[in-house]
Amino acid sequence: PSGADRDDDGVLRVGGIPATVLRERFGTPLYVVDEEDVRAHARRALDSFRGAAALHGVQARVYYAGKAFLSTEVVRWVTEEGLAVDVCSGGELAVALAAGADPSRIGFHGSNKSTVELERAVEVGVGSIVIDSLIELERLAAIVQRRDAVQNVLLRVNSGVHAETHEFLATAHEDQKFGFTLEDAPAAVARIREIAGLSFVGLHCHIGSQIFGTAGFKESAARLVELHAALLEGGAIPVLNLGGGFGIAYTAADDPTPIEELAAGIADAVGRECAVRGIPMPNLAFEPGRAIVGQAGVTLYEVGTTKSVALGDGASRLYVSVDGGMSDNARPALYGAQYSARIASRVSDAPSVLARVVGKHCESGDIVVDAEYLPADIAPGDLLAVPATGAYCFSLSSNYNYVPRPPVVAVHGGEARVIVRGETIEDLLSRDAGLQLTEIEGI
Ligand code: LLP
Repeated sequence: PSGADRDDDGVLRVGGIPATVLRERFGTPLYVVDEEDVRAHARRALDSFRGAAALHGVQARVYYAGKAFLSTEVVRWVTEEGLAVDVCSGGELAVALAAGADPSRIGFHGSNKSTVELERAVEVGVGSIVIDSLIELERLAAIVQRRDAVQNVLLRVNSGVHAETHEFLATAHEDQKFGFTLEDAPAAVARIREIAGLSFVGLHCHIGSQIFGTAGFKESAARLVELHAALLEGGAIPVLNLGGGFGIAYTAADDPTPIEELAAGIADAVGRECAVRGIPMPNLAFEPGRAIVGQAGVTLYEVGTTKSVALGDGASRLYVSVDGGMSDNARPALYGAQYSARIASRVSDAPSVLARVVGKHCESGDIVVDAEYLPADIAPGDLLAVPATGAYCFSLSSNYNYVPRPPVVAVHGGEARVIVRGETIEDLLSRDAGLQLTEIEGI
């Protein structure tokens, strides 16, 4: 996070606090999130998208995509900075509401939303629900009719643009589960418009995640505008929601487009396409997740063992095992995601060697950092800091091997506080129906 520098004794400061102090107070592994960094990225995203939209005389709403990392504190930070919140399950909705988010500034997403989830969303009055399928449309129609409610809805459209990112992160090419094709969308919109309790407010598209360039966003936006224009015959459409997906740098090799440039490029693409079609430009909406929280997070681990493994030809690789792994960061195992690491508890004059930071789980794919040069004298007890773990690490965490999830600590103004407490083994055993609660005590 911002403000990561070293003390005179070589200890890395995270958000102004020595990593060794964080270890003493909270233990390891530890997710550390820099509140000011989250707020700064929220402001930057809002300014970028609003500024870009204003140049075309329209407004932009920016939703924070909670799936990247959600807790009530994070909801408070981003909403205080002026962002709306995008949730994609009943659980995420509950967190946003518990944090006091204004329901009218919550967007509800998700493929295969249940009747219970939709009912709750309508009941609390979420600002919009993004419809993902015809079955969901009818499910929601039944709910609004029964409740005599009126609900704003968008239609999720698959623009067919293949974003250049990991296969599992690309969501808008043809063979995938999300949304309606460009061909099927008009019939779905017509159906929405038949239902008195549903107010069609716009189209939605999200082409994938961790995208570096602007081309895919622009192409997708242009296709959406074409569809939007065709649908105007049936009535005005106030919004066009172009989703999230804006990439961040995980390692020095990553070179994402700055969000200001992305925002300007996308707004220009929409503006140009609207001009060509002679239609008024709709207000815009965006849903960044990773770009808000990704770089605000750092994970601290303690080294437990090291092992040099011969690779043949005299080469070797140093395996550095830490006290967490794929249960707190599944991204390397899931997507081959790359991270960096450095010793946080001291500086070393030892020569650097090629190392692989691995976790404590029973899988050879349990990798934290695939390839990193670390000092050859790295040893048990050293603290390792892995930056850029703010997005999709806590939210994708698991209890694999019955490893409790680490706490999340927020740093701000030189102070640290727990915002999500760590799990205990008792927490995990408390769900085991084969045990009486009294038997769990003392484990
Ligand atoms: N809007 C929708 C409809 C989405 O599905 C997503 C992410 C976002 C917004 C936010 O995307 P972002 O700005 O964070 O890229 N677990 C994967 C990422 C999955 C993204 C899922 N949808 C990862 O760790 O890379």
